[in-house]
Amino acid sequence: MSISLIGKSIGESATLKLNETAAILRAKGEPVIHLGGGEPKTTAPMDALVATSALLNSGEIRYTPADGIPALKKAIIRYTDEFYHRKVQPENVMASGGAKQAIMVALQAILNPQDEVIFPNPYWVSYPEMVKLCGAIPVPVSSEDGTFHPRMQDIEQVVTSYTKAVIINSPNNPSGRMYSEEFIAEIVQFCEKKGLYLIMDDIYHRLIFDGKQPISCYKYAKKTGENSKLIVINGVSKQYAMTGFRIGWAVANKKLIEVMANIQGHQTSGPSALLQHAAVAAINGVQSGVDSLRLTLENNRNIMMARLKSFEGVKCPKPDGTFYCFADFRAYEKNSTKLATMLVDKVRVVTVPGVEFGMEGFLRLSNCGSVKDIIEGVERMKWALDPNSPNELFIGDRKLVRDWM
Ligand SMILES: Cc1ncc(COP(=O)(O)O)c(C=O)c1O
Repeated sequence: MSISLIGKSIGESATLKLNETAAILRAKGEPVIHLGGGEPKTTAPMDALVATSALLNSGEIRYTPADGIPALKKAIIRYTDEFYHRKVQPENVMASGGAKQAIMVALQAILNPQDEVIFPNPYWVSYPEMVKLCGAIPVPVSSEDGTFHPRMQDIEQVVTSYTKAVIINSPNNPSGRMYSEEFIAEIVQFCEKKGLYLIMDDIYHRLIFDGKQPISCYKYAKKTGENSKLIVINGVSKQYAMTGFRIGWAVANKKLIEVMANIQGHQTSGPSALLQHAAVAAINGVQSGVDSLRLTLENNRNIMMARLKSFEGVKCPKPDGTFYCFADFRAYEKNSTKLATMLVDKVRVVTVPGVEFGMEGFLRLSNCGSVKDIIEGVERMKWALDPNSPNELFIGDRKLVRDWM
């Protein structure tokens, strides 16, 4: 079979594959604990459900403009004003089928083959593949000091004449690390100086802990007009627990949004009318769900951190936000895929191998399940890995005997 070079170069989404594995095992009645997921367990806001049902009942569900319905653009403009203190016009906004599509279309609008896109390591699994889909080259950059926080000097070192854009995701998936205000200021100014696009993937920006406040990149931008190369990405998936609604957006200069809308118009057309109306209702509706999700995640993070401390040799910097802890398991196993596979096989705990995020030897553990799952999941992992644990473990009435150490 003849497959394109780009098609062949794209790997499967590790996180989506894990969801599939967990679902297959669960369907067979296996007692799976899913610490690999990236979606909250709470339900979507009532406002969103009511708005969707009202439109559904009308039966009038039509095509939408390629860049989104006016009501959603209006809601995004208000959101941008509230959280970024930045006034934008409808022509600066494009709604998409999730933040994922907004990023993909932005990359398609700005990249030529061989262009390079820089992003800090660890990174969200889709960035390298999205860049490759444009025929361009992903350039992950690790901090030489080994932390999860990028440093300007490391980024500066990998900039070449081919560099077209930088992607920043803070707080970060998978590390949960929120980058310092000083770094955000520096990277905004650096990209402006070098004429680079800066894509701010802010999908987790309201899900931050310990009293931290979202940072607006616009605060540090000198180029505020239509020649700004800042592209701000956000969406309803994470903050409103609306992952399946598939609505995200981009805010950028008018010319770029026009090009992005042209691309999206030919690729998928505008997102579903039903789901855009749901997003409008979530953004404009009661916001208490976001606060309660944030508090739940913070509590879950604290429980996860306390449990991980009981592992000798596992290191995990405290996450500032998101759904994730990114823990260093190299004391037990250096190959994270092997380790994650072993944990599913032996104790039915699903985690995501760090290598998928650019860091071998780490596992991403998700906090967005129940407290019971976090406690039991980490306990099972400890039993599987710690040679000092008792030889037997009961999962319900199933007895496991450790015969691999
Ligand atoms: C860092 C990051 N950006 C973007 C997305 C995509 O979000 P959406 O569901 O809006 O496409 C995700 C989802 O996991 C993510 O973790």
